[in-house]
Amino acid sequence: MTIPSFTLNDGNKIPALGLGTWQSTPDEVYHAVLTALEAGYRHIDTAAAYGNERSIGRAIKDSKIPREEIYVTTKLWCTFHKDPRAGLDESLEKLELDYVDLFLVHWPVMLNPNGNDLKFPTLPDGNRDIVHDWNFVNTWEKMQGLVGNGTTSIGVSNMDVVNLEKLLSAKTTKIVPSVNQVELHPNLPQHKLVEYCKSKGIVLEAYSPLGSTDSPLLKNEDLVAIGEKYGVSSATILISWSIWRGVVVLPKSVTPSRIESNFKTVDLKDEDGEAINKLYEKIGVKRYINPNWSPLVVFHSDD
Ligand code: A2P
Repeated sequence: MTIPSFTLNDGNKIPALGLGTWQSTPDEVYHAVLTALEAGYRHIDTAAAYGNERSIGRAIKDSKIPREEIYVTTKLWCTFHKDPRAGLDESLEKLELDYVDLFLVHWPVMLNPNGNDLKFPTLPDGNRDIVHDWNFVNTWEKMQGLVGNGTTSIGVSNMDVVNLEKLLSAKTTKIVPSVNQVELHPNLPQHKLVEYCKSKGIVLEAYSPLGSTDSPLLKNEDLVAIGEKYGVSSATILISWSIWRGVVVLPKSVTPSRIESNFKTVDLKDEDGEAINKLYEKIGVKRYINPNWSPLVVFHSDD
């Protein structure tokens, strides 16, 4: 099937499938992005915290594909919450771009920019060094000033319903996030969050859609069996299921054959999509990416 685009609440369009790049090293990601663009991908997802923006920028440039044909997302790291402008400018410089298409608040937590580590500052007790006189509502107030100034759209990541309610009800919130990028796969379908975001006009994006590194989902017998019906792998079924449910999907790979096959999605029949919706009842609910933000609660539920 050709990859569709979804329309965001600000009128912009986003390709429903993009290349995920978390845990791709700078060297790997350069080749991965070139392979992906060659295979037809027009959407690349990165983040300041991934440490690979320079290579991605170089690959985009070397691909010779016009900038406006490629959808690029990056994310504000936690130590930059008081100054999203500076975070965005740093990313643009590394990406060698004038603008990104989408700029997301990576986590709804501010970390100390003057702590013992540039990325993950910690306290003597080992917990992350969180700035407590600031919150994501304050960050969002500043993010809103970036629209049209280095980013086309803005959104959030790792936001659950409790935190989204807090954000949307704040009087400083004038722009509803276009996107919420979260972990989504059959072990963590988050049907309530999907419904909630749909009701608010927020498009969801799935990270770790295959279940992340060494995923047991790829060997799941039900997913393999559905794949056999379509003549494709369980990975293709996982990717196609996201698109079927209206969720942008960001599979990560640095392996050329996988990058290519992940782009060849199938049009899932409703009965198969619905069976995958319910798979969690059989295999259980499991969140793979769950950092310790103590004493803050980032995920109030897995629903
Ligand atoms: P690699 O990058 O070495 O190709 P997720 O997108 O859920 O985070 O999953 C990423 C993981 O899944 C990576 O370890 C990636 O390995 C692997 N992967 C990506 N595509 C496929 C595929 N089509 N088949 C099997 N494993 C895959």
